[in-house]
Amino acid sequence: MKVLVVGNGGREHALAWKLLNSPQVEQVFCAPGNAGTAAMAGCQNLPLAVDDFAGIRDFALANGIELVVVGPELPLSLGIVDYLRANQIMVFGPNQAGAQLEASKSWAKALMVEAGIPTAASATFTREEAAQAKAYVQQQGAPVVVKADGLAAGKGVCVARTVAEAEEAIESSFSGQFGAAGNIVVIEEFLTGQEASILALTDGEVIAPLLPAQDHKAIGEGDTGPNTGGMGAYAPTPVITPELMTQVQTEILEPTLATLRRRGIDYTGVIYAGLMISPTGEIKVLEFNCRFGDPETQAILPLLETPLDELMVACCSKSLAQLLPIRFLPEAAACVVMAAGGYPGDYEKGKIITGLEAANATGAQVFHAGTQLQGENIVTSGGRVLGVTATGATFAEALRRAYAAVDCIHFDGAYYRRDIGYRVTT
Ligand code: AMP
Ligand code: GLY
Repeated sequence: MKVLVVGNGGREHALAWKLLNSPQVEQVFCAPGNAGTAAMAGCQNLPLAVDDFAGIRDFALANGIELVVVGPELPLSLGIVDYLRANQIMVFGPNQAGAQLEASKSWAKALMVEAGIPTAASATFTREEAAQAKAYVQQQGAPVVVKADGLAAGKGVCVARTVAEAEEAIESSFSGQFGAAGNIVVIEEFLTGQEASILALTDGEVIAPLLPAQDHKAIGEGDTGPNTGGMGAYAPTPVITPELMTQVQTEILEPTLATLRRRGIDYTGVIYAGLMISPTGEIKVLEFNCRFGDPETQAILPLLETPLDELMVACCSKSLAQLLPIRFLPEAAACVVMAAGGYPGDYEKGKIITGLEAANATGAQVFHAGTQLQGENIVTSGGRVLGVTATGATFAEALRRAYAAVDCIHFDGAYYRRDIGYRVTT
């Protein structure tokens, strides 16, 4: 089978790597991919942007691509799945209507309320209702969470410590900081506890979670400083006990799928539920994403035993039930993200990366994110540069192996958290 993966991040490198592990997958193409996907045997990058739908279609049709896997939310929300399916191409991911689960927080909230899914209390305001939005935060008090409705590259959520900060977030969203994505804001109750990410596969009829993972959103050790796309992850997180997983299945995943169906949406692909688990074990949904998580995917996929291509084809052909239960190795995995100094603020690009071979020789898997080839060199080209992943019998072992590989790698200004997995090792 020939597969085309759309995207260029660490998630897409991990997807391409896992797909190539399957005996049935003969070749993987990445549009546009990164230096890591370019270097993998059996994998080839294509100079096609993630929103070049016609280019992706033409390549797929001309080269006998049997499956397209869409990584990022942007092309999903722009309707790449509808477009490719109209051209008889099999594609893993939700259609544009389904992608609203991530592309509109107010739409997702309304769906959760309709489905009776536990989530933070909230209110939604349009730009014309700025005065009401401010009155609402004054009445709620701080801390309070202000979210731009649409896609804002992970920057649309403000956890406001004061009412003034919340008012400022409302103003900057309505004054165009996130473009049209900020014309509506969702203001939400502040929740505390531990976060967990549930990535579930669905064919529109059944829905099955992968191993629960935990991301580390904040840039600083001890979960301090501004939020990022994710600085590291591990799986399976013990905060989701088997009992809680059953609850997630029956109270969140199944009602979400049923409500999508009731709205006439045939959702296939991944439903990612970002959860908050309170100190007393109460679960609430913080957000839905319509795709695999990054870097959660880099921690989950090394443990997946059922061939990924078979799962994806089953999702596209309404036969996922036949592959259940999904099988996993009974081990632990951890991914440490190496970022460019300054991220998530301004950072420099073009720094030469050395030590990648030595890191891979340790047995760890170095997934590339913001990297590109420049002549003979691999250089940095993004904020999150690499996701260094290792497995082990315990979290301590997986983390020790991941950090041993991180120690081999150098680039100017490299930054990473040294405390990934602190909750499971201390
Ligand atoms: P979201 O994109 O909605 O998941 O928000 C990004 C991050 O903001 C989450 O992973 C949380 O760390 C934080 N966050 C979002 N909503 C809330 C909330 N209601 N209470 C506390 N933190 C939140
Ligand atoms: N790691 C968070 C996300 O993928 O949205």
